[in-house]
Amino acid sequence: MAETPFSPLPGYPDEELAERSVQLYRFMERRRSIRQFSDRPISEEAIKNCIRTAGTAPSGANQQPWTFVLVKDPRVKGAIREGAEQIERVFYEKRAPEEWKDALKPLGTGYRKPFLEGAPYLIAVFVQKYGVSEDGSRVTHYYAQKSVGIATGFLITALHQLGISTLTYTPSSMNFLNAILKRPENELPFLLLVVGYADENVKVPDIRRKSLDEIVIVV
Ligand SMILES: Cc1cc2nc3c(=O)[nH]c(=O)nc-3n(C[C@H](O)[C@H](O)[C@H](O)COP(=O)(O)O)c2cc1C
Repeated sequence: MAETPFSPLPGYPDEELAERSVQLYRFMERRRSIRQFSDRPISEEAIKNCIRTAGTAPSGANQQPWTFVLVKDPRVKGAIREGAEQIERVFYEKRAPEEWKDALKPLGTGYRKPFLEGAPYLIAVFVQKYGVSEDGSRVTHYYAQKSVGIATGFLITALHQLGISTLTYTPSSMNFLNAILKRPENELPFLLLVVGYADENVKVPDIRRKSLDEIVIVV
C-alpha cells in the first residue's frame, strides 16, 4: 500500500504566542448564546463557508461523520418550530424534573421557540452513526459523536468570527428532524443551531464562567 505523504506545518514565532492567545481568548469570551434573533438576511455563501470550516475539524479515522442541513425555507422552519414546540410543551408541563427546571430558570426559557422561524437560518447537525458504502454495506464510524461535537464547535466559532450569533438548541427528543428533513436512518440528530444576527434589543442572562483554576489541572 502507498504510504501517506507527510508535509511540514507552518507555526508562529514563540514570542507572539502569549499575546495571540490572549487576543483569541478575549474574542471567544464575547460569544454568547442568544434567544432573540433579527430577521436581517445573511449571505448564504458566508454560512456555507462556515459549514466548510466545520468540515475541517478532526474526526475519528478521518471519517468526517457529519451532515449539516442548512434550513432557509420558511415552511420548513415553520414545521421545525411546530415539531419542537410540541415536544417542549410536554417537557416543560409534564416531563421535566424539578431539578432540571431549576437549572433552566436563570435562562428564562419556556416552551415557545419563535426564533426557530424568526432567525434567517437553522443548521440541523446530524451524526452519521455508520456510513453506507456504494454497495449498500455498513461502514463502522469511530468516535462519531465526539467528532461531530468538535465540528460543531468549529462551526459556532466560524460564525462568531463573522459577528453572527447562534443558539445551540436541543429539544428533549429530536427524531422529528429526520422526518421533516428527510434524513436517512443512519443519521442521528445531534443538535439544531439557530443562526442569525442578534436582535437590537437582545438581552442575555448573566452567567459566570469557571475560572482557569477551576477547569485546569497541570501535572
Ligand atoms: C449541548 C448544548 C445544549 C443546549 N441546549 C439548549 C436548549 O435546548 N435551549 C436553550 O435555550 N439553550 C441551550 N443551550 C445553550 C446554553 O444554555 C448556553 O450555552 C449556556 O447557558 C451558556 O451560555 P453561553 O452560550 O451564552 O456562554 C445548549 C448548549 C449546549 C452546549
